[in-house]
Amino acid sequence: MSSSAVAPSPQLPAILVERPEHARAVEVLVDRAFGPGRFAKSSERLREGNHKLDDCSFVALHDGRVIGSVRLWPVVVGDKPVAFLGPLAVDADERKHGLGQALVEAACTAAAKAGWRAVLLVGDAPYFGRVGFAAGPAAQAIMPGPADQRRVLVKALIEGGDADLAGPIRIG
Ligand SMILES: CC(C)(COP(=O)(O)OP(=O)(O)OC[C@H]1O[C@@H](n2cnc3c(N)ncnc32)[C@H](O)[C@@H]1OP(=O)(O)O)[C@@H](O)C(=O)NCCC(=O)NCCS
Repeated sequence: MSSSAVAPSPQLPAILVERPEHARAVEVLVDRAFGPGRFAKSSERLREGNHKLDDCSFVALHDGRVIGSVRLWPVVVGDKPVAFLGPLAVDADERKHGLGQALVEAACTAAAKAGWRAVLLVGDAPYFGRVGFAAGPAAQAIMPGPADQRRVLVKALIEGGDADLAGPIRIG
């Protein structure tokens, strides 16, 4: 090899809006990440029969393969429309490189651009706290089914966007 030759670098993951042709791979990825119990979760009650926000749902692709996914859904808390995030999943072999965080940030940025006041989710505060989510403002937002209220987290996308989020969370 001449001294000027460089080894081809592997393609870096790209984060793109999810397209219909990604849907099957997303299902496989999410099934693997959460296991068969995923449809029993309270969060699923806000997804089944709902339509994801197409412009705010993203995949991470590596050499054309789906290695990460995040979806957003329209819901209402009391009378306030917010975007509901989930599932978030990254392929087990591709974790700890910042992809999960990058997917959440892409979804939140798109939701802000689309005019949503806040993003809500059920998840681990130590993880989602890193990207601006907190439990306090969501304390009165009630999931449709059993859920640990400390795991209901919200991130404001506009000034005061997380204020007065009280009442049942339902499909918007
Ligand atoms: C959670 C998940 C999406 C993170 O993906 P990722 O690409 O590894 O995320 P990032 O690289 O942005 O962040 C990794 C960091 O978060 C930490 N982390 C991951 N899951 C965590 C959790 N539940 N609680 C606290 N920290 C967590 C990792 O240990 C790592 O820490 P480090 O930066 O100190 O090494 C991925 O682990 C996954 O798909 N898990 C299974 C599905 C799931 O639990 N989804 C989230 C609930 S909706």
